[in-house]
Amino acid sequence: MRVGVLTGGGDCPGLNAAIRAIVRRGIQEFGLEFVGFRDGWRGPLEGDTVPLDVQAVRGLLPRGGTILGSSRTNPLKDTGPGGRNGIERIKDNLAGLGVDALVAIGGEDTLGVATRLYGEGVNVVGVPKTIDNDLGATDYTFGFDTAVNIAMEAIDRLHTTAESHHRALIVEVMGRHVGWIALHAGLAGGANVILIPERPFDIEKVCALVEHRFQTRYAPIVVVAEGAHPKNEELTLTGGQLDAFGHVRLGGIGQMLAAEIEKRTGKEARCTVLGHIQRGGTPTAFDRVLATRFGEHAIGAVHDEAFGVMVALRGTDIIRVPLSEATRELKMVPPERYAEAEVFFG
Ligand code: F6P
Repeated sequence: MRVGVLTGGGDCPGLNAAIRAIVRRGIQEFGLEFVGFRDGWRGPLEGDTVPLDVQAVRGLLPRGGTILGSSRTNPLKDTGPGGRNGIERIKDNLAGLGVDALVAIGGEDTLGVATRLYGEGVNVVGVPKTIDNDLGATDYTFGFDTAVNIAMEAIDRLHTTAESHHRALIVEVMGRHVGWIALHAGLAGGANVILIPERPFDIEKVCALVEHRFQTRYAPIVVVAEGAHPKNEELTLTGGQLDAFGHVRLGGIGQMLAAEIEKRTGKEARCTVLGHIQRGGTPTAFDRVLATRFGEHAIGAVHDEAFGVMVALRGTDIIRVPLSEATRELKMVPPERYAEAEVFFG
């Protein structure tokens, strides 16, 4: 069997570890053949491939990014040459390349396309990844633990400089729809306030918590997810640029908060945006292990011809869930989890 592999959407630490596991188990244990597709769905859409064998995946375990490249190309929006739509073009290219099955490593958007392709008769298996940890069907995605550790280390460092200068420091972390990174990094880093998209915030309460922290002779650290927003207020924080899946490019809430806190409390407030630093570099041990296990189980599903599934973590087990279930709902931070962090606010 010839198997195509692609990585789509925002990259994250652990993608290469997953590719390595897929290829190593696929070749060594099952005698499969592989072809890599470049830049997410753009690869199969344009028939752009890269050789993928054991030699190609040597030394990949600790390496960040993805050797296959990634993109947010959405084939469902594509009407390409010859009037063939994106799905038809992918099917043509897979047939032309003799690819019998596809392993798609991605988040909500990439796996949404995989679900659609499976419905159109393509043999697909999905692997969940995203630093956001927002896929409902799996307990964790790889990339998340690394992002949390990077943000936690930044918070640890910011504490010492904030205290020296008696400033409030605002840390903006990633998290478009959900606040998992903010919650975990904020809890692990001892944040004064954590603001997440699931819980619109009251700026007056945030300022009261900041002031309280100053009164107890500590400098406040406010961790804010990029998708967080105040109650009852419309804020235009971006140029409104949309990607191919219709997501707005976020950024700016940290700066807005710093300005507002400074204005309302009279204390100096500055913002640090961690941005793509959270997505780069080497994965943590947890992410290397999870990515490796996902990769091994995904190619196991291909070997069993169990298509239309995504591998997922439940407790400590890796299970198979239908692709349709994988993308059905986003995993939000539940109120009771937020309440655990609130104990340390102020
Ligand atoms: O989906 C993962 C993620 O890192 C989000 O947290 C963030 O909003 C988005 O990707 C940023 O994507 P890009 O790098 O394409 O701007």
